[in-house]
Amino acid sequence: MSEGLVSPHAGTHVPVLVEEVIHALAPVEGAVMVDGTYGGGGYARAALAVANFTLIGIDRDPEAMKRAWEHAGRDPRLIPAPGRFGELEAILHAMGREMVDGIMLDLGVSSFQIDEAERGFSFMRDGPLDMRMERKGPSAADAVNHLTEGELADIFHILGDEHGARRVAREIVHRRRAQPFTTTLDLANVIEKSLGGRRGKPTHPATRSFQALRMWINDESGELVRALGAAERVLKPGGRLVIVTFHSIEDRIVKLFLRSRSGNDPSVSRHVPRAPKGRAPTFEVLQRKAMEPSEAEQDANPRSRSAKLRWALRTDAPAWDAGPDEGFRLPGLKQLEGVA
Ligand SMILES: C[S@@+](CC[C@H](N)C(=O)[O-])C[C@H]1O[C@@H](n2cnc3c(N)ncnc32)[C@H](O)[C@@H]1O
Repeated sequence: MSEGLVSPHAGTHVPVLVEEVIHALAPVEGAVMVDGTYGGGGYARAALAVANFTLIGIDRDPEAMKRAWEHAGRDPRLIPAPGRFGELEAILHAMGREMVDGIMLDLGVSSFQIDEAERGFSFMRDGPLDMRMERKGPSAADAVNHLTEGELADIFHILGDEHGARRVAREIVHRRRAQPFTTTLDLANVIEKSLGGRRGKPTHPATRSFQALRMWINDESGELVRALGAAERVLKPGGRLVIVTFHSIEDRIVKLFLRSRSGNDPSVSRHVPRAPKGRAPTFEVLQRKAMEPSEAEQDANPRSRSAKLRWALRTDAPAWDAGPDEGFRLPGLKQLEGVA
């Protein structure tokens, strides 16, 4: 194990459910594994500490990739690979690889991203209304200044579970006629006002709407669906898929995918492709209930509170050939093409 990779100065993101993730991933000598959400490298360091194997570290955020290159300079077992985990197959092909022994994903944003005002993820810090993990494509400002009231309401309702979604969308559209949105605090204040202020609410009234916008801008659910299909195609028999989610929609997508692919309910969801008749299960789920952080972890790291871990073993059955873009659909980024 390289000293470099276990440096205590490696950053301020506190990884969630680390022991459980590494236990589920079970890296062994000589394996090739993927960390699809490198972030601050917390999982990567923990995994490389338990076995001597190759870890491909993917992240769509150029800042995370800088950290990965720095770490890789100290530990050659880590191979940084910039990109999206939804494009896992293309990333592997470009590296001359086809199959891997394990994949871990730790969804959502890192503390590095949230804490940096200039990235525009946080309603607590004033900054440009950006929220793009990759720093390209349409920004959150483009979304709130150009989508229709109905589209905005759908985003806040579906992705944010915001009960006041319509009110929020109406107020945004009303305000932008006078002056387009450019900053996080400006948007947070308008959302707060539309929901009747704070009035003893435990969380900031903009929490749900900000999360929904971030998920939409980065097509986070679409990325997850594509990653699940890719994982089925690139994992070797016996390979491990380990996913930590922070949002009920994402946990549901993972749960329904694994349920259908393990032969336990080939049905009923628009989130995952239908089971073709007579297909053999491609995953084995040994632990049906999602793992959650202990109370102690939740107290020590409040960000862990909504975390859920699911994992499964790839069988030797052929993949079900879901196309790379099949599955979950929301109002697409298409509405913003040509805007940004
Ligand atoms: C919760 S953090 C991961 C933290 C990491 N496990 C650690 O221990 O430091 C999530 C990371 O995933 C990245 N990410 C989110 N969606 C992605 C995607 N579709 N493809 C690649 N990286 C993604 C984000 O940029 C962020 O750095």
